[in-house]
Amino acid sequence: MGINPTEAPPDPGASFRICPPTAANIRFFAGHLQAGGLLAIPTETVYGLAADARSPEACQRIFSLKGRPLLDPLIVHLADVSQLPEFAHPNEAVARIAEACWPGPLTVVLPKKSSIPDLITAGKTTVAIRIPAHPVAQNLLQTFAGPLAAPSANPFGYLSPTLPQHVTNSFRQKSPWVLDGGECAIGLESTILDLSRPETPAILRPGHFSAHFLSSLLDTTIPQHYTIQPGNQPASAPGTFARHYSPHTKLALFHKQPPSPNPPPDTARVLLQRPAQASSNLFWLSEQGDQAEAARSLYQLLRQLDNAGYQRIECELPKTDSGIAAALRDRLHRAAAP
Ligand code: TXA
Ligand code: MG
Repeated sequence: MGINPTEAPPDPGASFRICPPTAANIRFFAGHLQAGGLLAIPTETVYGLAADARSPEACQRIFSLKGRPLLDPLIVHLADVSQLPEFAHPNEAVARIAEACWPGPLTVVLPKKSSIPDLITAGKTTVAIRIPAHPVAQNLLQTFAGPLAAPSANPFGYLSPTLPQHVTNSFRQKSPWVLDGGECAIGLESTILDLSRPETPAILRPGHFSAHFLSSLLDTTIPQHYTIQPGNQPASAPGTFARHYSPHTKLALFHKQPPSPNPPPDTARVLLQRPAQASSNLFWLSEQGDQAEAARSLYQLLRQLDNAGYQRIECELPKTDSGIAAALRDRLHRAAAP
């Protein structure tokens, strides 16, 4: 990571619950999930809190542990695209997208089949499907041989976890077991592409795969995702909460110019790139201003600063809206929303 080291206070968390992904542990946890248990799993985007998607009782435990409203549907994770017709109605558009993007950091919304309980989709007629690429997630999904519902493994509304310790530090004595897959390579949640009406595809959440790239795969123009600006009212539709992915510390955003030449001592300032002159409360997401590195570092740095006793965090917004910068801007706006 390209961030400068500020030691967060030691956090005992529940780190003994973090398990290496040995063959024996994968077999054990596949059985634990089949018996209705919860497990935090690594993916290339963020850690997920997984349960058997065929079991409403198991998935109810996800909502309870996260404090997540039942109107917010869960993503269903599969090992392979060949399993898709068991749970959703595929179409030609998803076949094209799957070829290029799966396994990978993409979620597709499709008409659901009755094999997915209504609890998981919040009563909707559609289901969100993802096939993650992380080798540990793949190994577990293949051994489990079924669908795993998994939202991000954080208390509802807080920053998503990109390290196993983020999960145990958030849930402490209530923490589920965590399969250790190291640091998440992308660090922001998957792109969500709605293909339930394939003639009008829509991006519900920007991520690693951009609107531009997905449009080229479908020979159409998918509109750029609309980013909620701070101050907007939360929308009532699932998945469009204005405030989300937020630290507890007050977060303010700035465009080109920071609000003052130097931040006051109670304020941490986060820049996209390492500044020419360092100071103890200046932080950066990437040495060279690389956007993918900034995306990977964002939640980790915000968590670190959230535990460091600052009254306020100021964060620089990316100037462009292309590629992963669109996802960074979206998450920053949501993190800073009132
Ligand atoms: O990268 C990711 O997608 C991670 C990893 C663990 O896979 N998962 C994740 O899940 O971010 P979650 O639950 O934190 O975010 C899923 C989003 C929610 O905003 C939810 O409302 C939306 O997907 N969603 C789920 N099912 C949907 C559906 N049928 N229609 C529209 N939105 C849906
Ligand atoms: Mg989430």
